[in-house]
Amino acid sequence: MSKVFELYKTLAAAFGPSGREDGIRETIASIAGNYFDEVTTDALGSLICRKKAVGVPENVRKIMLTAHMDTPGFVVTYIDEHGFLRFAPVGGLFRGDLIHVQVRFANGTRGVVSYEEKPDFKDLQMNNLFIDIGAANKKEAERMVKPGDFAVFDAPSFEQNGMICGPFLDNRIGCAVLLMVMTKLPETVKDDIYFVFTAQEEVGMRGAGPAAFAIEPTMAIAIDVTDTGDLPEQKYPMDCRLGGGPAVKIMDHSVLCAPRIRSALEEASLITGVPIQHEILRDGGTDTAAIQRSGSGVPTGALSIPTRYVHSPSEMCAVRDVEQAAALLTRTLLHTL
Ligand code: CO
Ligand code: ZN
Repeated sequence: MSKVFELYKTLAAAFGPSGREDGIRETIASIAGNYFDEVTTDALGSLICRKKAVGVPENVRKIMLTAHMDTPGFVVTYIDEHGFLRFAPVGGLFRGDLIHVQVRFANGTRGVVSYEEKPDFKDLQMNNLFIDIGAANKKEAERMVKPGDFAVFDAPSFEQNGMICGPFLDNRIGCAVLLMVMTKLPETVKDDIYFVFTAQEEVGMRGAGPAAFAIEPTMAIAIDVTDTGDLPEQKYPMDCRLGGGPAVKIMDHSVLCAPRIRSALEEASLITGVPIQHEILRDGGTDTAAIQRSGSGVPTGALSIPTRYVHSPSEMCAVRDVEQAAALLTRTLLHTL
């Protein structure tokens, strides 16, 4: 088992749908605590870890690296008289990913998502799905869960042929990258370095903006996953594949990345020999956009881990891309920004 897979498994085991990040925040804080001078939680639930620069305070730059720690999930909206739970998605869930998938609630209650048979299968909407927790009736169900309770995927993971497959690679693998960079930081640093594990990215980048507003970084880099173009018969060609190296984001639906951040990552690639790919994502957005527009504006870029089947319970990425992302980011942070 690789170090990356071990770390991913620790992070993926923690509960953390958007808005309910307590579990994953505690897990990350317990790993990161000793490496930073200050570890705080802000009003939206983002974890802000600061390593102070050694130098004259006025001249010190503030560099912010972020990864969102929340995952998409489910919220119970209604329990019917037979004990079946209706739910709303929290963040982007695709109904095709949900049929007969298992879920778990914060209190340990398990369930399986199923669907009404009356509508034609191809016409199924999210409203036609329900969660079965094996309750005989409404009363029994209500002893286990309540409307307003959150659930996440409950799915196994494996490592094979240098690939990792499992739930929540988006974005626990980004958190893993930051935790790997953290261990490579020297004793003293010349910039104020902030590692921010943000809340509520999956519901529209809600946590990153306030965190950036408070920090007022000189510049920022967000770490997240991105789609790949290496699957059969895809809609758009995309120059990004598993194992091709981390991807430097050029743009997505929400952001045009700062050229200086792109150059810094490219320069680090030349120095380290870490191969990079270039990400131009037609749909989707990341914290990058929220940080870029916070305060009077922040030069912001992003580094992405190519990942297949994003937001499904079986996402897949390459271990090497994760290791290389950590190496590239460390070099960028310490030498080329
Ligand atoms: Co996502
Ligand atoms: Zn993400």
